[in-house]
Amino acid sequence: MSVPWVYIGDLPSKIDSQVTLRGWLYNMRSSGKIHFLQLRDGTGTVQGVMVKSEVSEDLFAVAKGLRLEASVEVTGLVRRDERAPSGVELSVSGLKILQNPESEYPIGKKDHGIDFLLDNRHLWLRSSRQYAIMKIRDRVIWAAREFLHSDGYLLVDSPIISGAAGEGASGLFEIDYFDSKAYLAQTGQLYAEAAAAAYGKVYCFGPTFRAEKSKTRRHLTEFWMLEPEVAFYDHKDNMDLQERLIVHLVSQVLEHCGEELHTLERDVSKLENIKSPFPHLQYSEAIDMLSRLGSSTLYGSDLGNEDETILTKQFDRPVFIENYPKSVKAFYMKEHPDNPDLVLCDDLLAPEGYGEIIGGSQREDDYDRLLARIREEGLPEEPYDWYLDLRRYGTFVHSGFGMGIERVVAWVSGLQHIREAIPWPRTIYRLKP
Ligand code: 4AD
Ligand code: MG
Repeated sequence: MSVPWVYIGDLPSKIDSQVTLRGWLYNMRSSGKIHFLQLRDGTGTVQGVMVKSEVSEDLFAVAKGLRLEASVEVTGLVRRDERAPSGVELSVSGLKILQNPESEYPIGKKDHGIDFLLDNRHLWLRSSRQYAIMKIRDRVIWAAREFLHSDGYLLVDSPIISGAAGEGASGLFEIDYFDSKAYLAQTGQLYAEAAAAAYGKVYCFGPTFRAEKSKTRRHLTEFWMLEPEVAFYDHKDNMDLQERLIVHLVSQVLEHCGEELHTLERDVSKLENIKSPFPHLQYSEAIDMLSRLGSSTLYGSDLGNEDETILTKQFDRPVFIENYPKSVKAFYMKEHPDNPDLVLCDDLLAPEGYGEIIGGSQREDDYDRLLARIREEGLPEEPYDWYLDLRRYGTFVHSGFGMGIERVVAWVSGLQHIREAIPWPRTIYRLKP
């Protein structure tokens, strides 16, 4: 009689049955008479107990020779075990070795340096910590898409290869495109704006690229951005949407990822604070607050990472910084009606020092002003023809924002550095694996 293959995650419903598991040996401990085999298969982990007196001598000896990360098929009886985190244990009666590695698994129990771990990212992903982060990332993305979809947003994907800069000419990855040059998308926003004029409430979600030589714990050269864009939303409506989205994401992670947050030793009380309303500071107020707190950043400059860290430590929830000087923001932002030196925009900064997770704005919907801004920035006009059409044919008040998935995952998971928040981090010095 063949024993059915089941996933570890389904074992609690298989108590007292014979099952076969397929997976990897992630740890092993032996006394002379018992092997404790820690198995994982992507749905969970379970301890398999092999007792010398219950199996053949050969099998017991073979099991002793297993190396970490051997791929195996294990058969046994599922038993209830109150002490096990999963509530079950497997009494092992059969073991088929699919492959026993010929050398020791490179990632051991000792502390490895970060460069070693990143070089071995393809193996490091197997660790319980990385698994927890990937599950939180999956939940954040899933919850964001579900939130937008169920509110009537249409997903309209934007191209990755583009003929124009999105966020300004610096930080662009240029590629050869047959006989001309093209750029990897820094943002899908301009396309999302066209989609908003077509379909009202839309968003795009995909990888975006910045050739910035920033070596900070917040910067990747490739990251994933969720970009909603909404027809007839103004600056305030836009911030309201951001707040609702963030509150939803955090509550979904708390609801579904308790085990993962525990694995990461995340202080969940900090996440439980994330409720509406979020505080708001005008840019000018932020500068005043920073100067009181010892920053030397002057009115007119962009906020640095250090400034953001200082500001976020003043609040127990994300804080909006509104209406920055035009000179430090992108060309498409709408001029502030009361002060032509400012734009109607917001950065949303996550607490505990994490800083910017969202950048958003009301868009310049006036044809002449937008063209003037393109010229002021010294951008080529021809690639923006089509973008200006949106102001020629039925221009409309509209707003949107970009949320960096890895920034959110790093914050919610409590990571020291953004590189763990993406499966395959790309930074200035890292293209492999
Ligand atoms: O503030 P940014 O540059 O805004 C835009 O690109 C707009 N066009 C978005 C829009 O309005 N549709 O980037 C948006 C967010 C940031 O708040 C941050 O979360 C993330 O993208 N981000 C990065 N994440 C990781 N590494 C980088 N180098 C990032 N640059 C931006
Ligand atoms: Mg920004």
